[in-house]
Amino acid sequence: MSAAMCALRRGCAQTFRRPLPASGTLVQTCLQSSQPVPAARLPYRVKLSAGKKYAWCACGHSKKQPFCDGAHVTKAPGISPVRFTPDSDKKVLLCACKQTGNAPFCDGSHLKVLLRDAVKAVRSLVK
Ligand code: FES
Repeated sequence: MSAAMCALRRGCAQTFRRPLPASGTLVQTCLQSSQPVPAARLPYRVKLSAGKKYAWCACGHSKKQPFCDGAHVTKAPGISPVRFTPDSDKKVLLCACKQTGNAPFCDGSHLKVLLRDAVKAVRSLVK
C-alpha cells in the first residue's frame, strides 16, 4: 500500500491510504478526524462564572475537558470550539459525548451513545 501527502487540505501532513476494494485504486481519504470523538460517557458538571469567557471542546481531543486546549488544530482541524459567556453564575452539565444538539450543554444524547455501545458489546458476545 502506498501513501501520499493529503491533497484534500492544504498544508496538511497527514497521508491517505485507502485503496478501493475491487481495483486497489487509491482514493483520497483524510486521516485527520472530521468527526468528534467522545471524551467521556457522562456529562461534566461544571460551575460557570458570570461574564467569564469559555471555549467548550467540540472535538473531544482536549486534555482539559470539557474545555478546549487547542488540540483540534492538529487532531480535528475541521472542528472549532464553542465559545460562550454565561450571564450568571450557575452549575451546568456540559456535554462530554460530543453528540449534543444543544452545544455546549448536555441534551441527553449520551444515553443514545451508551445504548449503542451496549448493543455493540452484546453483539460481540453473541458472535
Ligand atoms: S481541543 Fe477540542 S475543540 Fe479545541
